[in-house]
Amino acid sequence: MPAHVFQLKSVLCCLCVVLPCGSWQQSHASARRIFRHHDAAHPISYGVQLPMGRAPFAFASVTSEELVDFLLHDPCTSYLLDDCCDPACLRSQWGFEEDSINEQCENILKADWHASSFWGACSARLFVPRTDEFLPARPAPVRIQAFIQAFQHASAACWGRLAQALHAQECQASGNRELQHSLKVFRRCLEDRTHFTGVEAQIWKGGELTMDSHTDGATAMLHLGVTLGGNRMLRIGKFDERHAPYRPQENRRRGMRSGDEISVWNEAAYAVQELWDMEQSRGCFYVTSPFCFEHGVKYQKHAINTTFALQCRFAFSNLTDARLVNGQRTNVMREIADVIAHSLVDSIDRKELQLPTLQEPLGIITTAAKKPARMIPPLD
Ligand SMILES: *[C@@H]1O[C@H](CO)[C@@H](O)[C@H](O)[C@H]1NC(C)=O
Ligand SMILES: *[C@@H]1O[C@H](CO)[C@@H](O)[C@H](O)[C@H]1NC(C)=O
Repeated sequence: MPAHVFQLKSVLCCLCVVLPCGSWQQSHASARRIFRHHDAAHPISYGVQLPMGRAPFAFASVTSEELVDFLLHDPCTSYLLDDCCDPACLRSQWGFEEDSINEQCENILKADWHASSFWGACSARLFVPRTDEFLPARPAPVRIQAFIQAFQHASAACWGRLAQALHAQECQASGNRELQHSLKVFRRCLEDRTHFTGVEAQIWKGGELTMDSHTDGATAMLHLGVTLGGNRMLRIGKFDERHAPYRPQENRRRGMRSGDEISVWNEAAYAVQELWDMEQSRGCFYVTSPFCFEHGVKYQKHAINTTFALQCRFAFSNLTDARLVNGQRTNVMREIADVIAHSLVDSIDRKELQLPTLQEPLGIITTAAKKPARMIPPLD
């Protein structure tokens, strides 16, 4: 067994604080926390070059340690870290697998979960962009599912605004069938509430590590990142203008691999102000569109806590549609990103993008527990 996996055991066990049932209900009803722009002076940034210009995106964040406590500590059900401190159990119970994430073939533990079984949509499969296929996925732990549902509810005005803007664009795009259809694919995802229900859980304990620079697939046209423990540094390559050029580089002329040319770890590729370094620690939440920008994650040497993060994306339900949008780095996708970025900025300005309070996911769990057993996510 690799050393870092073994180390997980002791560290994860330390996270298993047992809280009495009901302690959350007794706490005061808190207010919903509101997401804010990372850079309010420039709410729209531009990422990778697509035909007709760079892909626009918004980036908003908020912190809540309370919600992370709630997500991690689940005394009432059999839950991830409670009786599953053992790596073998993380694998068998929660589907964590080692996943190679850089050229040095280092591994972090990853699991693909779906967070939609509360709606009875018990699809056990998730569309995975890197394979362009549906792959089996387990239901996410109950509290994570309830949180995703509560987040959808708390920010319903924002998703409504996005869906409406996509629909308005569909009507205008009557001359462009491809654009019209692709807009509809994303609008339907929002209407069917599949946003953020594809959950990738990541666990890393092993000191310094740099993950390869990349852009995500189409499931990350709208993305929620949550850090449940530890620290991770997210680096993003961003530009202030749609037509900003890349910096000229020596290696371009020497014909090096194209991937390195725009890697966020290649300091020659970006001016200082074109790189955002964002420290993500326990309790950090962000919403953005990593489909649109080059990014990488670094785990620091000094970090002592296990890093545990969730990446929540669209769960496409139709394979034909998912494949249609997934492979594309086209102007159609740039136009969709444009609609999403601007509507998201509108929503953030209007304070519509909000985390739920603790009481909201709790209420969902209580309600689900009263329904027939099939509504409760199986914990196989
Ligand atoms: C590790 O986690 C604990 C508990 O969440 C926290 O109090 C502490 O500050 C963390 N340490 C570091 C170095 O992040
Ligand atoms: C998937 O989408 C395609 C194109 O939009 C449609 O023709 C097909 O009927 C859909 N498949 C299912 C199973 O809904």
